[in-house]
This record gives sequence, structure tokens and C-alpha cells, in this order.
Amino acid sequence: MGQLNLNKVQKFYGTFEVLKGIELEVRNGEFVVFVGPSGCGKSTLLRMIAGLDETSTGDIMIDGKRVNDLPPVKRGIAMVFQSYALYPHMTVFENIAFPLRVEKMPEEKLKAKVENAARILHLEQRLQQKPGLLSGGQRQRVAIGRAIVREPKIFLFDEPLSNLDAALRADMRIELAKLHKQLKATMIYVTHDQVEAMTMADRIVVLNAGEISQTGAPLELYHKPANMFVAGFIGNPRMNMLPVVCKAAGDGGVEVEYKGQSVTIPVGGRPGLVGQPLTLGVRPEHIHIGKSDLSMTVVPSVIERLGAHTVAYASLDGESENFCAMLPGSAAIRADEVVPIGIAATDCHLFDASGVALERRVELTDIDMGLLKIGGG
Ligand SMILES: Nc1ncnc2c1ncn2[C@@H]1O[C@H](COP(=O)(O)OP(=O)(O)O)[C@@H](O)[C@H]1O
Ligand SMILES: [Mg+2]
Repeated sequence: MGQLNLNKVQKFYGTFEVLKGIELEVRNGEFVVFVGPSGCGKSTLLRMIAGLDETSTGDIMIDGKRVNDLPPVKRGIAMVFQSYALYPHMTVFENIAFPLRVEKMPEEKLKAKVENAARILHLEQRLQQKPGLLSGGQRQRVAIGRAIVREPKIFLFDEPLSNLDAALRADMRIELAKLHKQLKATMIYVTHDQVEAMTMADRIVVLNAGEISQTGAPLELYHKPANMFVAGFIGNPRMNMLPVVCKAAGDGGVEVEYKGQSVTIPVGGRPGLVGQPLTLGVRPEHIHIGKSDLSMTVVPSVIERLGAHTVAYASLDGESENFCAMLPGSAAIRADEVVPIGIAATDCHLFDASGVALERRVELTDIDMGLLKIGGG
């Protein structure tokens, strides 16, 4: 088992409220990623779950039992840090075995556990080496091995891949996903990298300034961000935001005006919107060349050609300088030349003056959610 409940968890450093009443349930076997910008409180929350930091108020429950007053070793958790925290004078074997030595586990049982972890992590050939001889990725795997042998109820990872280069990070993402599948353990993973969050999580918790901004499956956050913060944080390049004014709100959606053009966006309205300034969001990958429900022109200043797609950083209608469009393949556009573009109403997001999303009425299909089953079934 490994179920975690956070009930109104608060943390103060002096008078500074770092975490503002976090409510969260992590189910047994789930892979949950805490994502958010640097300083939003991710590490503090993880350290409180681990018992390395005290909780100011609220309950931390593991499998229904309040653990606030239990020391870290009694909580059934294991934590892996960005800094691998390996002992340089010990072999890989002894580094992995360390928590079991502390428990005074009999040698034979200990050896079997270390060898099993080494097999899972492809470290069998390295067991007699010292960490100094290993690559960054191998060292991080040793640190994960030390967590695995403890057979924790919950694994906690704090930005474990941040010290690795891009290619190795991508490999380790896949390794961790496989590890989760194999161990079926509850895992909580902290990162500031939205790609890591999107690719590994069953569920993402977006944190902003000590509060949960939104919780949901990766594609749920992508398609239905609850506010401008999540909309801007999830997705790369970032969503474009355009100022519009609300003209009408009815059953068909919310009609807005952008520079003399009207478009009705399929989102739920609410009273008092008419006449209000709103923000229209559209992702770079939803921009098309040519006309659509909203039509405008851009002039790219920089074009990045990546083969699979072309990213243009442009001025929009001769104004906004930081508009971004991502077009499939090798798009036939040139820097400093006018490109007509279009946006479909169904691809638009709308946010009110306080940044809260008006709920999108678009039906998310199984394809949108990545749930399509191959072969009928
Ligand atoms: N021991 C501490 N004393 C005072 N303030 C701290 C301490 N640890 C963290 N903070 C502050 O708490 C906030 C959240 O920090 P942290 O949890 O490390 O953020 P994250 O991991 O999301 O980058 C930051 O503003 C940080 O400066
Ligand atoms: Mg941190």
C-alpha cells in the first residue's frame, strides 16, 4: 500500500507562508508529478512528506495513518535527490546496501536485495566500482537503487534528472517510467520541467506560489487548463495570449471581438461578462496558414526549422512582438515576409480578467486524451 493524503497542509518560514493549505490525495500505485516554477514550494512539500521538514499545520497521512510526528525512517518512504548523495569511498554495492546495513539485515538477504535492484537498474557490472568511475546517469541509478532496496510504500524524487544532459534525461525518463510499471509503487516526482511532468505523470499537480493551481491528467491540463498560469506553464512553446472584449455570452458560447473581427468561442459564459476585457489563448501548434474563424497576419522575425516542424517568432498584425506559431513540417514561410494565419474557434481558450478559464465546451475524445485503443477493444 502507499496512499498519501495531505489535509490542509501549511508551512511557514517565520511569517512567510510557503505552502498555503495543500489538499491532495495520491492513490496507491499512482505516479504523481509536482510541477511549478522555482521557489513555488515543491521541495518543501516533498521534504514535509518525507519528514525532513516539520509541518506547520495540517495532517500528512500515509495509508490512513497520521505521520506528522513520525521520523523519516518510520514513514515507509524513500527519497531520491538531485544531488546523488552517494558515499565516494564506498562501492556501488555498499552504497545501495547502506540503508539495509543500518537496519542490520542479514548478509544473504541483503545481497539478494542489492543484486535485484542492480538488475532492475542495469548496474550488475558496476557493483564493485566506486561512484567516481560512473557517469551521471549511472550515479543517479545507484541513488535510485538505494531507494528500491528499502521497498518503500512511497518513492519521492526531487528533480532527480536536473544534473544530467538532455539526451540522458530523456533516457532516464523512460527508465523511470519502466521502473514505475515494474514496481507498481506510489511515486511522487518533483520537477520544474513541464516535459518531464507531461511524459511521466499519471496525474500532474501544478503548484504556483505555495498553492495548487490545478490537478489533472497531463492531457486534461493541456486541453482544459483551469487558468492562465497552467495554460502558460503546460505546453511548449507557450500559449499565445491576446486581449479581446466580450460582446455576447449565450448557449452557443462566448462571442468576443479582436480588432473588429468577431468570433464565438465554445466556452461556458457567466453573468456580467459582456463588455469585459478577456484574454484569448491559442497554442502555437494550433495556428494554421490561411484563413479561419479568426484571420490575421504575422511577420516572422526568427524562424526555427526543426524538420518535423517550423517555429516562427513573429509580430502579430504589426503589433505584439512575441507571437509564436508552430507549423508542421518545413513550412513555406520566410522571415520579414507577411504570412496570413488563421485560428479555429474550437482551438481557442478564454480567460476572465482574473485569469480564470471559462470552461471549454469542446468534447475531448479518447484520441485527445491518448486513450484510443488499438485494435477495437
Ligand atoms: N529553510 C528555509 N528557510 C526559509 N525559507 C525557505 C527555506 N527553505 C525554502 N525556503 C523558501 O521557501 C520557498 C519555497 O522553496 P522550495 O520549496 O525550495 O521551492 P522549489 O523546490 O519549488 O523551488 C522559497 O521562497 C524559498 O526561498
Ligand atoms: Mg526544489
